[in-house]
Amino acid sequence: MPMTETDAERTVSTDRENAARRVAALNRNDKPFHVVLAQQFDRRTIEELCQLADMIRAIGGSRQGTQFLRTMLSHHRAMLYFIQPSTRTFLSFTAACQIVGIPYNEVRDRSTSSELKGESEEDTIRVLSQYFDLIIMRHPAEGFAERVAHMLNDMPRTIPVINGGSGKDQHPTQAMLDIYTLFRSFGTPASVAHGTGGQEGRGRISAPRYTWNPFAGKTVAFVGDLKRGRTVRSLTYLLCRYPGVRLMFVAPPQLQIEEDILDYISRNGIEYELGDDIRGCIGDCDAIYMTRLQDEWDVDGESKAIDYDRYSLTYDMAKDFKPNLTIMHPLPRRHELDQELDALPQAKYWDQVRNGMWMRAALMASIFNVDVAIRDHYYAYYTF
Ligand code: NCD
Repeated sequence: MPMTETDAERTVSTDRENAARRVAALNRNDKPFHVVLAQQFDRRTIEELCQLADMIRAIGGSRQGTQFLRTMLSHHRAMLYFIQPSTRTFLSFTAACQIVGIPYNEVRDRSTSSELKGESEEDTIRVLSQYFDLIIMRHPAEGFAERVAHMLNDMPRTIPVINGGSGKDQHPTQAMLDIYTLFRSFGTPASVAHGTGGQEGRGRISAPRYTWNPFAGKTVAFVGDLKRGRTVRSLTYLLCRYPGVRLMFVAPPQLQIEEDILDYISRNGIEYELGDDIRGCIGDCDAIYMTRLQDEWDVDGESKAIDYDRYSLTYDMAKDFKPNLTIMHPLPRRHELDQELDALPQAKYWDQVRNGMWMRAALMASIFNVDVAIRDHYYAYYTF
């Protein structure tokens, strides 16, 4: 039976209530305490964190500044529980820990843990929560990081968890570094980058100017395996905070972005288009976000038959690029992103890697409320 209008409306409002409840369980003081879902970041939080990442970057440029930053979280300890393959995200987090001075340990292989003696993974996490003050985790199961956050909320000693990639579902810190990269590429007015109004509201790091929306009128295309690429899902949630952005999803039909994300985009009044060949859209794009084929999720080698050339960016396409195009990739790349493109000014994927380190340091500073001390230090020593 077709849904009546009221049924549909009821579904939408229930979805919204559920989303609000999920976010409320993860946030404290209106900002992320656990970092699990991209939906936790509203526009104010996104822009404050980009500003904080810029400040940490500036302070970290000198020996004295680096030493100052290292005192920020030196009284805490972090656990990197990464039981799914990772090099760059893992190393990005270790570098970020070093920037804010938080000592860390790692578990990267379940076979060395008591899970082999029959301990549940939940108990392993409970044990870790007694030694450490922060858990950063990468896990193959969707929803596991969120479950851990709820579990930690129920422990007498609640510590935060950061999701460094959860199955095919979400990768919120990657999305934050991606939007930070887009902010930097689309041009950041001085008032946002250096907060000329920054001395107001000393309780929380000053809010940048929300009236300025660099995404209005911009086209961002996502290309590749969009069904199983968690970075695309998370970044889409963030982009939906910016009215006037136009999204394109270019993917093989069987690997196209999932309906739940398309519903979310529509509910937020954002325009989108679906495509199945990159050549059809290159000239229109202000940013192209390339992704690899995520064939480790194949059940029966089903993606072998896909002609990935239609979802690959090659040097001969550069003649059609807008001069200010931003080319992104969460990495690792395969052949979908021609190495010859690396030398072009439009290639921003190495910047993404570096931006990620500053953004993750900013996230940790924000979780532990040392963002205000960093901001004050910045205004005392780094503005003229
Ligand atoms: C991505 C991931 O793990 O989701 N990599 C990353 O974290 N930078 C993308 C991928 O593996 O393709």
